[in-house]
Amino acid sequence: MDKKNLLNGLIKDYKLKHKKSEELFEKASRYQIRGGSHNLRLFAPFPFYDVQCSGSKVTDADGKTYVDFWQGHFANVLGHNPKIVLDALLDYFKRSQGLTTGFPGNYQRELAELILRQIEADKIRFTTSGTLSTMYAMMLAKAFTGRDLVMKVGGGWHGAQPYALKGISVYDRGLHHLESAGLPPGIDSMIVITRFNDIEDLEEKFRKHGEGIACFILEPFIGAGGFIFSQKDYLQRARELTQQYNSLLIFDEVVSGFRFHAGGVQSLYGIKPDLTVFGKAIGGGMPVSAVAGRDDVMVLCGPEATADRRVKFEGGTFSAHPASMLAGLTYVRYLMERESEIYPRIGQLGAKVRNGIEEIFNAYGFNVKCTGYGELAPDNSSLVGVQFLRENINRITFPEQVWNPEVCDLELREKIFKLAMLEEGFNIFHGFGAISAAHTESEIQASLDAVERIAKKWKKYK
Ligand SMILES: Cc1ncc(COP(=O)(O)O)c(C=O)c1O
Repeated sequence: MDKKNLLNGLIKDYKLKHKKSEELFEKASRYQIRGGSHNLRLFAPFPFYDVQCSGSKVTDADGKTYVDFWQGHFANVLGHNPKIVLDALLDYFKRSQGLTTGFPGNYQRELAELILRQIEADKIRFTTSGTLSTMYAMMLAKAFTGRDLVMKVGGGWHGAQPYALKGISVYDRGLHHLESAGLPPGIDSMIVITRFNDIEDLEEKFRKHGEGIACFILEPFIGAGGFIFSQKDYLQRARELTQQYNSLLIFDEVVSGFRFHAGGVQSLYGIKPDLTVFGKAIGGGMPVSAVAGRDDVMVLCGPEATADRRVKFEGGTFSAHPASMLAGLTYVRYLMERESEIYPRIGQLGAKVRNGIEEIFNAYGFNVKCTGYGELAPDNSSLVGVQFLRENINRITFPEQVWNPEVCDLELREKIFKLAMLEEGFNIFHGFGAISAAHTESEIQASLDAVERIAKKWKKYK
């Protein structure tokens, strides 16, 4: 396939149609590295700058409107700027309330109660990002067990914090490399990488390192690792092994929490971790994350813990910010009340997109498989990953495959398909993205029609 020509053509068209964004990008680049603060958002040749986001749509500085499947890093289950949250916040602000106070307000207690009830955990503490929360969860595990090693899966993204920056997407015969400079010396040997969904590898890693493993952290539904569900027997074995070796099991539910139903994906599996990390959806569009779990572990972040075991999971001027807590509470409550209406609908749209994309590309001779579905949420998965597979590959089961250029065509997925869909009026990420309650049937159908036009066009480049 002549990808070079295809990509060059798409970049040329994109530039022609995004003059204002290009100007804004150039201006922003004078003050910021690559014109922004989050590399993923700053895709090449330059990002479009949004001026308005509402429901399923985003309108950019050049007046172009896209149906958005990125939806705020997959956080927006209800679409952009849902009215229920805006109304609650506007009312709060009109009462001259809502800005930071430095006091423990009531909304956080109510949000704590709701989330803990949903996952049947003892205690919860809020902060502002998933990254901080996974770091605190790992620190709690280290303090609780008195051990040094953190085990994570290859392909698992837990934010950019020192204990998690290994084995994410840099593929060189496997996912087990450090992914950042500037890390503390010796960190490489403190992070053990195991293969997602591979029971044998997990058993071997526990045999080898078990006595030193403070925690095994994983996403029961892996996000950046390719939208793949854990197999139930794998999670069960993870639960058994962590118990056998007195390590803690941490579920990172930053993506999966409140995405497949109004709670953690852990209750679909019937497996209870020691700690759970939430983020994204629980903030209702505001910066909220949390660590929830066992009393005897969580207690280590309070003054009751002895000095040698106390974890500094504290500070954070904006932790449990009043407006964020109100947004989160309003959102989570709404998701719980409308659970039976929201999740089956977006799940069914997800299935339509996954099946449709596979059918279309296959009909035009492309080897494409979609990820995002699984036996545990067969009808309730609103997430769609599109994997352009090399010849003779017919199944995607591991993040290693998703990031292995010999298995998946990463350039097609991350660059070419992205720009091609933008040209058609759809904003996608990592192959496609997240369907929200704000997306309509006709937008979903239109996205499939766009995929068909793209597949037809690409066939000429084959
Ligand atoms: C599974 C997972 N954990 C943690 C994080 C980090 O969360 P945040 O970006 O809020 O710091 C992310 C972010 O995408 C994530 O997907």
